[in-house]
Amino acid sequence: MTPEPASPSAPAHRRTAGTTGPGARVRSRLAERIGAGAAQLPTGYQRMGRVLLLRLPPGLLAHRHLIGELYREELGVETVLLRHGPVRGEMRLPDLERVAGDTGETEVVEHGIRFRFDATKILFARGNKTERERIGRLTRPGETVVDLFAGIGYFTLPAAVHGRAGRVVACEINPVAHAYLEANVRLNGVAGTVTALRGDNRTLPLETGAADRVILGWLPDARPWLDRALELLRPDGGVLHVHTIAGTHGGVAEAEAGVADALGRQGIRPAAVAGREVKPYGPGRLHAVVDVTVGRAG
Ligand SMILES: C[S@@+](CC[C@H](N)C(=O)[O-])C[C@H]1O[C@@H](n2cnc3c(N)ncnc32)[C@H](O)[C@@H]1O
Repeated sequence: MTPEPASPSAPAHRRTAGTTGPGARVRSRLAERIGAGAAQLPTGYQRMGRVLLLRLPPGLLAHRHLIGELYREELGVETVLLRHGPVRGEMRLPDLERVAGDTGETEVVEHGIRFRFDATKILFARGNKTERERIGRLTRPGETVVDLFAGIGYFTLPAAVHGRAGRVVACEINPVAHAYLEANVRLNGVAGTVTALRGDNRTLPLETGAADRVILGWLPDARPWLDRALELLRPDGGVLHVHTIAGTHGGVAEAEAGVADALGRQGIRPAAVAGREVKPYGPGRLHAVVDVTVGRAG
């Protein structure tokens, strides 16, 4: 059977194995090698360009290299990564092990934007796709945007490419992510629009009173950065996009109230506060973004 070709520009997406697809073929080949234990093989996997991301139950971990090679052959991907735990620390690093293949380098194309990164070192949250697209739609031509947590350009690139911002100032503390941010800015032809700054957004010399829009894409809670974001907004106001985690029951309202309270403590009464769910975030929790309009209409 011919494996699917590995496309460097394939979108990040999730697949289930079904009964006839590549996942089913991996399972039956695995069963030939290890017997009944192959039934534990999960049906889902995530493909990011030429890299595949898997989770395995403890009972299959001893066979992870074999499983990785089988997936590599059946799907025609270059590399298979095993996800061990949740993302870690301030830099949001993925906890992954390479079980087949030599490189984690990949490229995902989403809404016409090219994101290049090393999947072994950089988080690419599939569930944020709609939010990445939304930022591109909300950004108005000519705006000055500050992305406080730019990563490899998740929101910076949609704002520059689709939103046609006049200027995007992108801050990133992780040198590896910053290098990909610079590469992706060039790859997407927006070097004239985006300034990619490397360092801690709390101490980087950002221009105050100049931004129309500030993106605070930090989990679990970007509210500690509200005062930093407020000083960046133009004196007549602008829009903040504040990311946070909330409970699934009434979570969006909870997120809105949390952001409004934090602003209230700083004496700011926003003109509008509107939250939405970005994605589920573990049992009983969700990732929300709250759009805050301060001063003039956004
Ligand atoms: C991975 S993105 C968040 C992407 C997405 N919102 C998610 O689901 O996690 C957050 C980025 O902010 C960067 N970062 C964290 N603290 C920072 C700081 N104080 N200044 C600049 N960048 C920072 C991290 O290195 C990381 O690349």
